Amino acid sequence: MLKLGQLSLDVPFFQAAMSGYSDYAMRKLAKVYGAPLTFTGVILAKSAANSKVIGRTLFKPYDDEHPVGAQILGDRPQVMAEAAKALVGIGYDLIDLNFACPAPKVLRHQRGGFLLKEPQTIIEIYRRVRDDVSCPVLVKLRTGFDNTPESSDNFWKVVSQLCADGVDGLIIHGRNVKQKFTGSADWNILAEVKHRFPQTTIIGSGDLFDATRAAEVMKTSKVDGIALARGAVGNPWILRNLRFIFEGKSVPGPPSLGEQKQAILQHFKMIEQLYLPKKAIKYFRKFIIGYCNFHPSRKKTQKALLAAADKNQLLAAIDVWYG
Ligand SMILES: Cc1cc2nc3c(=O)[nH]c(=O)nc-3n(C[C@H](O)[C@H](O)[C@H](O)COP(=O)(O)O)c2cc1C
Repeated sequence: MLKLGQLSLDVPFFQAAMSGYSDYAMRKLAKVYGAPLTFTGVILAKSAANSKVIGRTLFKPYDDEHPVGAQILGDRPQVMAEAAKALVGIGYDLIDLNFACPAPKVLRHQRGGFLLKEPQTIIEIYRRVRDDVSCPVLVKLRTGFDNTPESSDNFWKVVSQLCADGVDGLIIHGRNVKQKFTGSADWNILAEVKHRFPQTTIIGSGDLFDATRAAEVMKTSKVDGIALARGAVGNPWILRNLRFIFEGKSVPGPPSLGEQKQAILQHFKMIEQLYLPKKAIKYFRKFIIGYCNFHPSRKKTQKALLAAADKNQLLAAIDVWYG
């Protein structure tokens, strides 16, 4: 079980926020395959706080996907609080504050991971949001801005203050901002955070590509839960397998071709409902690459599916390669 404020999950993992990926289609699929909670990709607070923008269907959670969290990005406490209220107003069950994003544009605007240099801003934003919404509020961090002692000091300042404030959960990606996605995630820091702050719910993130291994990393580091990101792209079975592990069942083998076909079609059908036909085909390609990893003729299947220029071609290629 995983407790995030007043929300209790029956298994201690969830689908992480992934910009450009964790739209309704990926979230719903994650739910169908066993994730007890999912998150939107990061949403700019300024947009969410704007009533015209938030009214667009793109932002709204669907009735059949709860509980679902919205993640916001910004540098001003008031705007972040307004965004959080608006997102809760349209139905989100949790709010996650992003102080982790390493994208150059985000750093230039002094948002996301940049704020790990300014512990006090993070604390002010967190307090303001927490006071303004009644749902659980989580905070997403990396382990610092870079690898300097000053960054490390700032990280521990942020963590200790948020823990002292009784934050509902910290999601920590075990890399610093400068690292982006290079090197490997440092789960020792996550273990240290949990050791120093045993009362706070700590969720680990980083390099979780296999269910059995992910469950082991969680056990070794003693964190309360784990967030699945890249490992779940074109691989909803990692979520199914994690659920099996936490329910004490044995892990099923790799998905059969029939199971792969079913997931691909189910996923694409939802994407088709969200985007115009041209965009849907292009957008789905990044997931196809993941799905094809399970196919015995990976390269040929990938080539055939990626070459599809429209829906009919895609469905025909799926029939050829998946039977
Ligand atoms: C394409 C991509 C988009 C991401 N978007 C977000 C995001 O919107 N918000 C966030 O907090 N983290 C985001 N992340 C980070 C992931 O949630 C996760 O913390 C990170 O990828 C480490 O986990 P992994 O190594 O298992 O993928 C993103 C990662 C990737 C690869």
